[in-house]
Amino acid sequence: MTLRVGLIGAGKVVSYGHWPAITALDDVELVALADVTEARRKIGQEWFQLPDHSVYSDYSEILKRDDIEAVCVAVPQAFRREIVLDAFSAGKHVLCEKPIAVTPAIAAELVQAARDAGLVFGIVHNYLFFPEYIKIKELLQAGVIGDLRVATLHFLGVIDYPGAAEYRDMWRHGMEAGGGVLTDMIHAVYLAEWLYDAPADQVMAFVDAPRYRARRPVVEDLALVQAAFPTGYAAIHMGWGEGVGGVDLSGSAGHLRMRYERYHTSGFNRPAELYTVDSAWNRQDHALDNLPEHMQNIARSFTRLWADFRDAIREKRQPVAPAEMGQRALELTLGAYLSAVTGCVVELPLNPASPVYQKGIDGLADVDVWPKSRTREAGLFGVL
Ligand SMILES: NC(=O)c1ccc[n+]([C@@H]2O[C@H](COP(=O)([O-])OP(=O)(O)OC[C@H]3O[C@@H](n4cnc5c(N)ncnc54)[C@H](O)[C@@H]3O)[C@@H](O)[C@H]2O)c1
Repeated sequence: MTLRVGLIGAGKVVSYGHWPAITALDDVELVALADVTEARRKIGQEWFQLPDHSVYSDYSEILKRDDIEAVCVAVPQAFRREIVLDAFSAGKHVLCEKPIAVTPAIAAELVQAARDAGLVFGIVHNYLFFPEYIKIKELLQAGVIGDLRVATLHFLGVIDYPGAAEYRDMWRHGMEAGGGVLTDMIHAVYLAEWLYDAPADQVMAFVDAPRYRARRPVVEDLALVQAAFPTGYAAIHMGWGEGVGGVDLSGSAGHLRMRYERYHTSGFNRPAELYTVDSAWNRQDHALDNLPEHMQNIARSFTRLWADFRDAIREKRQPVAPAEMGQRALELTLGAYLSAVTGCVVELPLNPASPVYQKGIDGLADVDVWPKSRTREAGLFGVL
């Protein structure tokens, strides 16, 4: 049975992610779209070959349609709350772009609404479907490096792509984005949890903006994060600009190294090297067969994610990336900002009474600021 879906927001991520994915799946059909920007509506209409009467400026028109079972919410995160709540009220399953929301309070509200309505609520954690991470997970589960003790995720070369020019191409650099590069590339945050198969319980971080300092940024372009998990630790090195990409894992019985072509970062190039060494320093290379060019690899990750979302609806089960995982990734990210501002280790999950839980990065102005905080010195998040 074909899954008929509506799309809300026809921006850049749809062009290289959702559009090729939906087009590749025979039993998923996009039958309507909504976008507040006329030029984006036209572009989206072309992609999906939609008749004029199925293209809307107001998303609620999509929610009124009985022939639509699910919606994909791909608008910037600041606008998700109302759309997602209305979608659940209208009985639609939701596939929501990352990050789930701009505050943990909203994330919790959305998660609860999905539960109350008994509907599937998936998050676009598409990096879980990249072949290199699937291979790494298989090697971990096979015990090739023993128990994971320290995971280092190098994401220092994140490309600072602008949003769609017809809309507001710099929205990622404003407070409404809910954070800077760590929020934008939250993929590394949920990957760390996924490697450990358990949520983090503590986080600490440096958060700064050395790259864009001259233009007085309000969100970070560099975040060096350390998170504690029940059985080990993760370091996430995140930056917009030029820097090292790849993954290093240290285990109780060996190590793993993964690197991209040109030392690039996940999502922006093809993996070039994946090997493990055992305790006696014997090296074993692991091939990633039939790896396509990296944009195709991204599109393929969306196709797999959409197939999983479709199956989750049909099988009445949770998707591989449920909304709760999005909520935890958001809390770790905001916990990192809170640590950078206060100079303290932050416990996870966040305290619901915390201003950051309630207001996201806007709440950072209300906490006890450490005077020597580099985040404060950089003038980020409105922290004085
Ligand atoms: N999973 C991934 O790998 C990935 C990659 C890029 C972006 N994203 C996420 O996707 C979302 C969109 O990012 P983008 O790069 O496509 O942004 P974009 O700026 O290119 O597009 C945003 C689109 O949303 C539309 N829009 C804004 N408010 C709306 C509303 N209230 N109702 C309907 N349409 C509205 C705009 O007109 C625009 O067409 C963000 O949350 C981003 O974090 C995810």
